[in-house]
Amino acid sequence: MKKILVLNGPNLNLLGVREKSIYGSRDFLSYFEELKQRFDTVHLEYYQSNSEGALIDKIHAVGFEYDGIVINAGAYTHTSVAIGDAIAAINTPVIEVHISNVHQREAFRHHSFLAKNCKGVICGFGLDSYRLGIEALLA
Ligand code: DQA
Repeated sequence: MKKILVLNGPNLNLLGVREKSIYGSRDFLSYFEELKQRFDTVHLEYYQSNSEGALIDKIHAVGFEYDGIVINAGAYTHTSVAIGDAIAAINTPVIEVHISNVHQREAFRHHSFLAKNCKGVICGFGLDSYRLGIEALLA
């Protein structure tokens, strides 16, 4: 069975509550249950942290064993050399995803420190960005 980690960074524990006009009104855990049903032949794991170090530790923990990581690093996308380096350090392919189309937003959201070490980037499809990320890993 293929193993895929869905990894969410800071403030994404507040999906369904935070800035609903940008991120929607659905909480992530109910969406993740839907993903597990949809990809029932895949071992899907979910982890969220608001801490940069905890996200890096998780990338290291699965990055030599899992078949893929779908990461939404939230604002760390635009600030974290360390998460970019963690992705470069592992073997597991990583897809960067964003709920919003970051390129339609403030200029500081246009740059990612992760993207160059990722297999690809998906943004702007709402929560469906995660499904598309998983499909890309399985394709
Ligand atoms: C986000 C976009 C980021 O710029 C922002 O800091 C987030 C969420 C997205 O999914 O659209 O927290 O990654």
